[in-house]
Amino acid sequence: MRRYDDIMSLERELMRKEREIEDLRMELKRCYSIIEELKQGMRPIGIVHEVRGNNAYVELPGGQVYEVTIPPYLLGKVMPEMDAVLSPNKGTIVNVVEKPKERSIWAHKVEKAPRVTYEDIVGLEDELREFKKAVEWVIDPMARKKREQVFSDPRLLEEAGSVLLFGPPGTGKTYMAKAVAGSCSLRGYGTSFIKIEGYEIVSKWLGQSAKNIREIFKLAREVAPSILFIDEVDAIGRARIEVTTDAGRDVQGMLNQMLVELGEGFDLNRNMVVVFATNFPAVIDPALMDRIKKIIYVRPPRTKDEVKRLFDFYVSKVRAAPDLCKNGKLSESVYEEIWGILRTRKRIYEASVPTRQLKVRDTYCITPRDVKNVIIEAATDASFDGEGYVSVERLLESARNLAKEPLAENVV
Ligand SMILES: Nc1ncnc2c1ncn2[C@@H]1O[C@H](COP(=O)(O)OP(=O)(O)OP(=O)(O)O)[C@@H](O)[C@H]1O
Ligand SMILES: [Mg+2]
Repeated sequence: MRRYDDIMSLERELMRKEREIEDLRMELKRCYSIIEELKQGMRPIGIVHEVRGNNAYVELPGGQVYEVTIPPYLLGKVMPEMDAVLSPNKGTIVNVVEKPKERSIWAHKVEKAPRVTYEDIVGLEDELREFKKAVEWVIDPMARKKREQVFSDPRLLEEAGSVLLFGPPGTGKTYMAKAVAGSCSLRGYGTSFIKIEGYEIVSKWLGQSAKNIREIFKLAREVAPSILFIDEVDAIGRARIEVTTDAGRDVQGMLNQMLVELGEGFDLNRNMVVVFATNFPAVIDPALMDRIKKIIYVRPPRTKDEVKRLFDFYVSKVRAAPDLCKNGKLSESVYEEIWGILRTRKRIYEASVPTRQLKVRDTYCITPRDVKNVIIEAATDASFDGEGYVSVERLLESARNLAKEPLAENVV
């Protein structure tokens, strides 16, 4: 009797498992079909207004309302106020999007009090001065106080405006913006640094990009004082040029949202600064460019002496052989050799901002990022081989490796 009961219970268990397998198969099929649909490109996404049996009414960002069918696997899951992803012909819902809970999906981008300060920036004195002048007073109450003493009409104070940093890769654009947040934090005004890449905002879901902008600005205001750093802002301009009409509308919506957020009164944007950065300023949308108050060219080092200062700075951060470093600086004779190796490297950077009649053309051989990498490579090799310091030969070898890299021209 006992055996019979055991067998029956096992049989029931088996049937349950078989049902589970069947359900999982269905779920897998559904996932595959979503993947397939997503592969086909942009999905329209809208807000569910009403659910009636197997149908729902969904409003797309342009304001049109579609009656769409709810497939069996989503019955009971589609509710009003939810975001629904539609099939390309807008006939069916293919998925619903969980609304982000309290924590913003961008929250992980916030860096509180970054550990970079003005002391970490070599050269770029004029550029940094211009940059500080434009942004410090917005996030640092002491700097604002000084400003308020001079501006007798408070209405003149209310324009913060945004800043654009442009220049070749590795010259210190991101670094400069971070240093402002880091230095103001050191003075006791815990400034947050939020770095978002332009292409991260451009959503694959129609209608989401404008929402992304709204959420990012909301977050920047919540964690203020803050620097909202939008890197590779050219991605937004590019997306508008390259994509099909639906997506083009989406990017336009996003741009409009950006203009709205930037144009918000001083009360809302009181403690935050928006800094844009790009290597390709010519591609930035003209309407957005209009809102940018200050444009700063973050140039590469141009002279032998400027490059030397960078080497001095980074050499002082590693343990160096006695003949490599004198009084904490790179020995002149070693630098002569390094300069001999690097000076033949030729990089050209050309860029323009047509609406501001701005044009730059620079020829250079090395960027601050390259200098840092040369030193890091030499120190890594030394430590890997069990040597406790960087020798002259190691540094020369590392410089030679850089000189061997193929020539790339940053021409826009
Ligand atoms: N002026 C500088 N002084 C000292 N170090 C610098 C300077 N500029 C850049 N660096 C070093 O090079 C690294 C890269 O700089 P950064 O990321 O700011 O370049 P970028 O201009 O933003 O480049 P990209 O256009 O590629 O984003 C920094 O992390 C920093 O270590
Ligand atoms: Mg950068």
